[in-house]
Amino acid sequence: MSGSLVCVGVGITLGAHISPISRSHIEQADKVYLLMSDGFVESWVSSMNSNCQSLQPFYDEGKSRHSTYREMTNELVSAAQSGLKVVAAFYGHPGVFACVAHKAISALDKLNIPAKMEAGISAEDCLYADLGIDPGKTGCIHYEASQFMLYQRAVDTAAHMILWQVGLAGDVSFSKFSTGEEYAQLLVDLLLKHYPTDHQVVLYEANTLPTEKVRKEQIRISALAKAKLNMQTTLVIPPSSKLIPNNKIRNELNKLDRTSFLTLVQ
Ligand SMILES: C[S@@+](CC[C@H](N)C(=O)[O-])C[C@H]1O[C@@H](n2cnc3c(N)ncnc32)[C@H](O)[C@@H]1O
Repeated sequence: MSGSLVCVGVGITLGAHISPISRSHIEQADKVYLLMSDGFVESWVSSMNSNCQSLQPFYDEGKSRHSTYREMTNELVSAAQSGLKVVAAFYGHPGVFACVAHKAISALDKLNIPAKMEAGISAEDCLYADLGIDPGKTGCIHYEASQFMLYQRAVDTAAHMILWQVGLAGDVSFSKFSTGEEYAQLLVDLLLKHYPTDHQVVLYEANTLPTEKVRKEQIRISALAKAKLNMQTTLVIPPSSKLIPNNKIRNELNKLDRTSFLTLVQ
């Protein structure tokens, strides 16, 4: 008996984003583990297979998320090791700002047990559609909000900057379900080293249920600490400066173009 693991994503909006291959994996699994954004989504996915188990009980306020993720990973690995055809279904994309699927697949790879990931529609994909942003226009950089605060990270004000888990910004304990105004203010202070105080940013929440409205609330960056920051809020910071031409490289490219033209006409 050889077990396996497939990690799938069901997308963000209930019923709208799941791919046929992910649905088929869920329907055919011996056991399905669920990590969903809300109870309705969990019930919907549970209707596809009678042997579903939620991973939510591994979370606990005050418990380090490092332990939570380790326990979730061990659960998936043990189930696949026991010979079951296991599916782990996550909301969004299973591998975007989500470590459990990556960790479980890597552990099973080492044990030579088949494990793979199917792509899903993440909050990032919804954001581009709902806010009309093309990441290719001026570039787009994504950071986890606390990591952005805790490390020296580059800021390119000519690109979009997207901060994930902004509702948990500054949680050094890695164990809270939300931080608060004082923590968010430290993030604002850091951002104000790069952006003007009246720069408009967007608090973005894609709709989980088809009947819900998308949140795309525009506020001044300096008002961020007092704004309502939920677990599912993503902060979108549009560019505040223009792209600066790299004249040195442009000159080099012009020289190359001239050389190839001369080679052509000789
Ligand atoms: C642990 S990450 C999971 C992301 C998920 N794997 C995905 O593919 O979108 C949680 C963060 O994703 C973002 N997020 C989750 N749901 C969202 C939603 N409905 N709208 C906007 N952002 C969301 C928020 O930044 C949130 O703090």
